[in-house]
Amino acid sequence: MSGRELVVIPGDGIGREVVPAAVQVLQVLRSDIRVVEARAGWDCFLETGTSVPQATLDLVRDKGAALFGAVSSPSRPVAGYRSAILRLRRGLGLYANVRPVSAAIVPGSDRSVDLIVVRENTEGLYVGREHVAEDHVVAERIISRVASLRIGRTACRLALQHAARKLTIVHKANVLPQSDGLFRDQVRIAVGEIDHAAALQVDELLVDFAALKLVQQPEAFGVLVAPNLYGDILSDLAAHWCGGLGVAPSINLGDGVALAEPVHGSAPDIVGTGRANPAAAMLSLALLFRYHWQLPEEADLLEQAVQRALAEVGPTAGSAAVTQAVIAGLAHAGVSA
Ligand code: NAI
Ligand code: MG
Repeated sequence: MSGRELVVIPGDGIGREVVPAAVQVLQVLRSDIRVVEARAGWDCFLETGTSVPQATLDLVRDKGAALFGAVSSPSRPVAGYRSAILRLRRGLGLYANVRPVSAAIVPGSDRSVDLIVVRENTEGLYVGREHVAEDHVVAERIISRVASLRIGRTACRLALQHAARKLTIVHKANVLPQSDGLFRDQVRIAVGEIDHAAALQVDELLVDFAALKLVQQPEAFGVLVAPNLYGDILSDLAAHWCGGLGVAPSINLGDGVALAEPVHGSAPDIVGTGRANPAAAMLSLALLFRYHWQLPEEADLLEQAVQRALAEVGPTAGSAAVTQAVIAGLAHAGVSA
């Protein structure tokens, strides 16, 4: 027994389809990792009055690792409701959202895109404080010194490990010189702390042009670091280069706790059809192996099995076909239950 345990939070919609598929694969790869299930999400809110029960927060804190599917959030105010994933990120101090995008996973791709979006995960507009006045609404956008420095340090660490050794700071300091200026300056301070700073190429882009460049020249990027909203938007955009939302993984990192999470949402348009691709959830699990459990061999095995499976079953295959092909891929690599 490794003593490792994983909390799984399927959530809503296709979260309940892709998380069990990823767990099936985990049990082939490492049957010694004990899986415990917890609740969160919109349905949980409707039934219990809270989107994240205290028991779920306590369990993830205790076990240190979680796989989260997706949750649904209404686009209108609902008294007492707060998005489950935002509550989990803040409640567990998961300050870094790491979203790698690699074209290597796409069958037949001739692109060499290999980048990571590092998204500040605790503040920005996602503090969710909206004040309604008579004829307008004010949304607070918090950028703090401490959170910007912290995400800057994580981005520098990842950029130093990344083949390109490039860091791009994304902001809009021309319009928001105080808040985005602070973000940029704190990341620059983190860069200045690196021993071998000269080995890291650092530049800055305004977020609007960063979006165009991610479309025109994605190979030019290594690690991008951005405030919360920009990171959210740019990572969906960049996901195009790894095959779309059905494939794009992410991991939320805090101190001693990590929550793996596909970039996609609850996909109500395909729920129940069997068309949800579990690859993103499986690749998020691989990130847990790589960045949290420090088991790079398992991460490699899982990523290779997913890559092989996608090549075999095609980009539009659903949960069952992808899961079977990934398990076959693991068997091919000598891993079976
Ligand atoms: P979405 O990511 O759920 O879906 C966008 C499009 O991508 C849809 O056409 C969907 O069918 C497709 N798609 C997503 N995941 C897929 C998969 N694994 N395989 C195949 N196709 C997939 O985003 P949308 O539609 O904007 O939001 C739907 C709900 O999800 C909303 O309630 C939103 O609040 C929530 N959401 C939750 C997130 C989370 O829990 N982390 C993140 C994003 C949205
Ligand atoms: Mg998003």
